[in-house]
Amino acid sequence: MFYFKDFYGNDVYLSFRQHPFSVYPKHVWVICRYENKWLLTLHEDRGYEFPGGKVENGEKPVEAAVREVREETGGIVQDIVYIGQYKVIGKEKTIVKNIYYAEIERLEKQSTYFETLGPVLLADLPEKIEDDHRFSFIMKDDVLKRSLDKIYADYIK
Ligand code: GTP
Repeated sequence: MFYFKDFYGNDVYLSFRQHPFSVYPKHVWVICRYENKWLLTLHEDRGYEFPGGKVENGEKPVEAAVREVREETGGIVQDIVYIGQYKVIGKEKTIVKNIYYAEIERLEKQSTYFETLGPVLLADLPEKIEDDHRFSFIMKDDVLKRSLDKIYADYIK
């Protein structure tokens, strides 16, 4: 279990075990790779981030993950694996989010990308992402760093 503060100073707990905080998390986040690049979305307010969002009623978290990737990037998921889960103790509420790693088969143009401006492909992520104003706050804490370490170790040759 890891503990750290997020970009706004909220407490975050992160674990790479099976669902340590909730079996029914309401949020999902998907680190996506397409043709040896990272596939992100450009959120209208927050900037560049990996796609994600809320689990809808009747949906399994992994189904929400596949849907959010398609809605926010047009990416069609080929393989998706659960990586871990994190809990953010926010000022108003606490949220629990599943983290997935997805390999994308193809990009399909969407008529809307919801609150985002659609797909963004990056060969590399900046070293000092926390100082880069183009990136969303959700990319700026140890959730991303530690998840990427795990993905490089387990999935990327
Ligand atoms: P609404 O129903 O739209 O208000 O959403 P919600 O309040 O259920 O969830 P929302 O996604 O807005 O998240 C609530 C708060 O949790 C946000 O204001 C953020 O501070 C925090 N939060 C959400 N996702 C993340 C994340 O991935 N990382 C961090 N550090 N904080 C997050």
